[in-house]
Amino acid sequence: MPMRKPAILITGASGEVGQALIEHLAAAGDSRLLSMDLQPLPARLVGMSTHVQGDLLDTHLLARLVSEYEVDVIYHLAALLSTRSEVTPELAHEVNVEGTLGLLRLAAEQTQWRNRAIRFIFPSSIAVYGMPDRESKHLYARVREFEWNQPRTMYGCNKLYCEMLGCYYSRHYRQLAAQQPATIDFRCVRFPGLLSALTVPSGGTSDYGPEMIHAAARGEPYACFVRAEARIPFMAMPDAVSALLRLASVPRSSLSRQVYNVTAFSLSAAQIRARVLAAFPDAQIEFVPDVKREAIVDSWPADLDDTAARMDWGWAPAYDWDRAFDESLLPTVRARYQHPNS
Ligand code: SER
Repeated sequence: MPMRKPAILITGASGEVGQALIEHLAAAGDSRLLSMDLQPLPARLVGMSTHVQGDLLDTHLLARLVSEYEVDVIYHLAALLSTRSEVTPELAHEVNVEGTLGLLRLAAEQTQWRNRAIRFIFPSSIAVYGMPDRESKHLYARVREFEWNQPRTMYGCNKLYCEMLGCYYSRHYRQLAAQQPATIDFRCVRFPGLLSALTVPSGGTSDYGPEMIHAAARGEPYACFVRAEARIPFMAMPDAVSALLRLASVPRSSLSRQVYNVTAFSLSAAQIRARVLAAFPDAQIEFVPDVKREAIVDSWPADLDDTAARMDWGWAPAYDWDRAFDESLLPTVRARYQHPNS
């Protein structure tokens, strides 16, 4: 039998986090990358990874991939985000839950077959939390992993359940077998809203943050769909990538849990607007709340307690809001719209 090629598999590779992760892993250069998405990779990433354009729900495609590649690590990033998922909740369930289940099963089978744990890295979200009202959100400002797990969105339900499935597959899968087989190594981070200069998000509910910045850089007016005081935590994309990589790299023995909050800074929409206006004094940003989308943002905590990640695997964001805006978002977003083809 021909040797299979060792690889890191990245699903949702053409999405925001996927693009940033591929760039980083390709620059590090020590592993073969296998990427998957319904969409092609953007031109600037072509050649950095072997890209398979296809559907995560296509079990034949997945079987073909594992017959050709020996996948050691999976970054499972493919998902429909929260606003998009409210428009087509059943499709969201199919992609977000069944897609994840299929991949967990594949990872479990490969783990058993090789008797070596595949590492399964899963980004979850602030959307797994559901604060019942604004007063609770104000009172319980920094939420820990086990608190307020009553999501309001299909996306939040999907992510919370997939976290549980990941833990199940890594701890209890085939628990009644005479000899329990080797199980996968599942690790998960719950991200706050992500701010990326290179990509504009689509279908999320934290999108007002990045949209405000991108619209100002393009010289377009922006109607922010939450009120000025609405607040959630955010993180710059380079930190999101480093959280995934760091969590993937630490020994299993140093992890006291499998699901970790990570965050960088908590901002109101007014604070984002003020910073954008300081950089783009002509920007026209007004608040025109969409009460339904705003209610989703209101159900997400004002901040996350990421003490466990800091203690167990030395998590610390490199970018606070000043540095994220001045050193990452602003120069990159300016260059992007001044030289749109670069
Ligand atoms: N950024 C995501 C969304 O808005 C939350 O994880 O859907």
